[in-house]
Amino acid sequence: MKQKEILLFGATGQIGRNLIRKLSKSNFKITAVTRNIHTAGIKLKTQANPGYLQLIELKNFDFNKVDALVKNCSICINLVGILYEKKKNHFQLIHTDLPDMLSTLAKKYKIEKFIHLSALGIEKATDSNYALSKLNGEKKIFHNFKNSVILRPSIVYSVDDKFSTNFMTFLSRLPVMPLYYNGDTKFRPIHVIDLVDIICEMIYKKENYSLLECIGPDVLSFKDILNILLEAIDKKRLLIPLPLALARISAKILQLLPRPILTEDQLRLLKYDNIESGLYKTNFDVGLKSSRRFKTEINKYSYNWKSGGQFSNQNRRVKLND
Ligand SMILES: NC(=O)c1ccc[n+]([C@@H]2O[C@H](COP(=O)([O-])OP(=O)(O)OC[C@H]3O[C@@H](n4cnc5c(N)ncnc54)[C@H](OP(=O)(O)O)[C@@H]3O)[C@@H](O)[C@H]2O)c1
Repeated sequence: MKQKEILLFGATGQIGRNLIRKLSKSNFKITAVTRNIHTAGIKLKTQANPGYLQLIELKNFDFNKVDALVKNCSICINLVGILYEKKKNHFQLIHTDLPDMLSTLAKKYKIEKFIHLSALGIEKATDSNYALSKLNGEKKIFHNFKNSVILRPSIVYSVDDKFSTNFMTFLSRLPVMPLYYNGDTKFRPIHVIDLVDIICEMIYKKENYSLLECIGPDVLSFKDILNILLEAIDKKRLLIPLPLALARISAKILQLLPRPILTEDQLRLLKYDNIESGLYKTNFDVGLKSSRRFKTEINKYSYNWKSGGQFSNQNRRVKLND
């Protein structure tokens, strides 16, 4: 049987790196596209067996160059995404125009499948530019290419993420932590390994689940998540509900940072629960259970933020024995 050629956009991210590891172990040949081959090489080369991973540098999404890549693949996976806009990187370009181009080319070359990562909760968040651009990207894909699979994950976490790790850093350094919308917004965090398993199932499955919401086993409010992280790093902090007017002012200031911690658009998005919509199938509905529990997984790497680091548990045992 001819080995499938996988073309991967957004390979250096949290999901991309974990996906490459699994795909290469399963003997797929992967072509990973990145903006910077030098930094990507360090991150990616160790994820795959020799000969199974080819890196291609594309500074921008030049149509002819992308065309030549899609022409030679059997499956194209798009993991490119941004959380905030900076200079030329607009939501429209990244979340709408790129998926539009890739799905058009997928149709042109009649490739086997196009798998695209969107995001959960975007239909309700009509006042968020991030959500709108993701939704418009999905519409383009459905219009362009019928063999497309769109996956909408809730928050994806792991030791490689920019979510639990960043929050553990904030919680260990700040004496108080603001709660937006009283910390009531609900999430269904999914571990990256569970999500990667779902993406791989989408590659193997003959039938297409055209849109699948990808959720973890726990429903947690933002406040629950912060409390789990605090317990995991053995710290006590004040979690203070921030009035919306103050939250807006803080977002206005924080979005000026080179890597914004919070933008006005993210604040609007935070208003909406990030859980299954009830309108589409979830991974649980199609027998793809995500079993990794948030609290258990966080405890596997939270020691990095504890006093004593990797020896923190040892310290505690010594204290108990004293
Ligand atoms: N992580 C989550 O919690 C989560 C939740 C819901 C949905 N998703 C979606 O899942 C997908 C993958 O997420 P992730 O967490 O793996 O993302 P990530 O860690 O932020 O990585 C995104 C990738 O996109 C590429 N990229 C970013 N800006 C780009 C630009 N301007 N031009 C070209 N490439 C660019 C980067 O590749 P290079 O630097 O190598 O070019 C990077 O590897 C995204 O579409 C994201 O929206 C993620």
